[in-house]
Amino acid sequence: MFRVLITDSLSPAGLKILDETPGIETDVRSGLSPEEVKEALKEADGIIIRSGTKLTPELLDGQERLKVIVRAGVGVDNIDLPAATREGIVVMNTPAGNTTSTAEHAIALMMALSRNIGPASASMSAGKWDRKKYTGSQLSGKTLAVVGLGRIGLSVAKRAQGLEMKVVGYDPFLSPDRASELGIELYRDVDELIPLCDYLTVHTPLTDETRSLINKERFAKMKKGVRIINCARGGIVNEEDLVEAIEAGQVAGAALDVYTSEPPQNKRLIAEDRILKTPHLGASTEEAQEMVAVEAADIISGYLLRNEIRYAINMAPISGTEMEDMRTWLDLTHRLGLLLAQLNKGGCVSKAKINYRGEISTRKTKLLTSSFATGLLESAMNDSVNIVNAEVLAHDRGIEIVETSSKETSSFSSMITVTLETDQGSLTAAGTTFGNDFVRLVRLDDFPLEAFLDGVLLIYRHRDVPGLIGFIGTVLGKHDVNIANMALGRSINQSGGDSIAVLNLDSEPSKEALKEILDHKEVTGVQIVKLPPADDCLPWMECE
Ligand code: NAD
Ligand code: MLT
Repeated sequence: MFRVLITDSLSPAGLKILDETPGIETDVRSGLSPEEVKEALKEADGIIIRSGTKLTPELLDGQERLKVIVRAGVGVDNIDLPAATREGIVVMNTPAGNTTSTAEHAIALMMALSRNIGPASASMSAGKWDRKKYTGSQLSGKTLAVVGLGRIGLSVAKRAQGLEMKVVGYDPFLSPDRASELGIELYRDVDELIPLCDYLTVHTPLTDETRSLINKERFAKMKKGVRIINCARGGIVNEEDLVEAIEAGQVAGAALDVYTSEPPQNKRLIAEDRILKTPHLGASTEEAQEMVAVEAADIISGYLLRNEIRYAINMAPISGTEMEDMRTWLDLTHRLGLLLAQLNKGGCVSKAKINYRGEISTRKTKLLTSSFATGLLESAMNDSVNIVNAEVLAHDRGIEIVETSSKETSSFSSMITVTLETDQGSLTAAGTTFGNDFVRLVRLDDFPLEAFLDGVLLIYRHRDVPGLIGFIGTVLGKHDVNIANMALGRSINQSGGDSIAVLNLDSEPSKEALKEILDHKEVTGVQIVKLPPADDCLPWMECE
């Protein structure tokens, strides 16, 4: 008998499924302290939670019986994923169950905001009848910017089109073809679309890249009187900057469902009545709660009884000789994905190609391709992408992943070449491994070279003229940045032609240093790429 612990309130439809499933028994206990959850987990094979239970490393470490965590909902920010992976616990969520309800909530907030429903209702409750003060704004004919066009963003876009709004959007992982099929005007950069909109709504996860995505500088570039909606995660819209932009009259109003801390602590934000506030209600409908509960019950029983894995967020540790053998190659393809994702500056990705040449083409290349896709999507999707789900997520975003292979060898006994096709052109990188542990970049676009693939990389394109290497060394030295390794690649093997250089640095150079390098007349482009340290463990693998 498998025992499932449920520590947050779960819709009765989900509980009924579990109660009626032979081989499963439930232990429903809400309001437990973290210590009590830890104790209860010792007797559980699986746990279903919503956002009320925080599964920290302290609770997960050493849980020998626990095999699976299911989050009834989308966000897994309340689960420590590395700790779960380390313990071999599969984490799954129910990504689609609350999409519609959350999209409807975003639309409800936008409509209420445009017609001052909140303050007008409060004023009537206070006995007033003030028709003039609450004159609103019509949605039809206005432009809505949707930042993040995944499940909820696309659902909001569709509904806004039904309200006769023009929808413009930004999502680096939605292909232009898919966007135009859906009638969305897609932009390559968030800065391109913000001056155009009357309303802006965000639907991205909260990642290092999206934290404070909508901030003071961006409010300043918007039309005066713009209205902002955040139904995704607190902090994507900078709360301090929002309050200031409203007080300054630049932003007419905002509607928030989510906050940097919940309940919110920012007193100015709480008191500002031009901000319409709801207490994280996006998914709080009977329908959404029922759907996520039913899905969670199916997922947990499918895993415990039949080892089915659906919507995996992490993956149980990969072990065994075969996996051990593949570790360096998995590391290489993951790093190639991270590299191309960072080299791509805002291009909309439509296709990613991966070619296996030589001996490596006879191995389990599917896993290597998934590892590449993980690196490619990681910065956009944070912890929710891994080797199990990366390719599906890429496909959902209109990115075609094409794998080809050939047993013939080239300069190396095995080589992997990856190419990213975007609306701005293509980017190519190739790598190989040396010995048991070393991964190397052996080609970047048309340039053969040999560079390390770890830490801080400074990549500059230039014309190959005497004195340039000395100049770069002097600039970096002046800014106290040490060069650990340098690799040069020339398209034609003579001086004066286009060239590329990859420098491994011990620290990240300042903006001033990069500007000095870019200002050199023979330098045509400079980029910084940040990769994990050489001995870093793959995010989804068990390391000693
Ligand atoms: P999703 O993964 O389907 O979509 C997220 C999209 O954001 C992806 O398409 C991704 O490519 C895009 N993205 C990532 N980084 C970006 C960036 N820097 N700029 C532009 N786009 C970027 O997720 P979803 O199910 O649509 O959920 C969206 C958000 O809503 C998440 O933060 C989720 O936690 C939140 N959510 C909130 C509630 C609520 O109750 N308020 C309910 C459900 C989900
Ligand atoms: C989610 O991530 O699913 C939503 O924020 C709703 C919830 O936390 O239940």
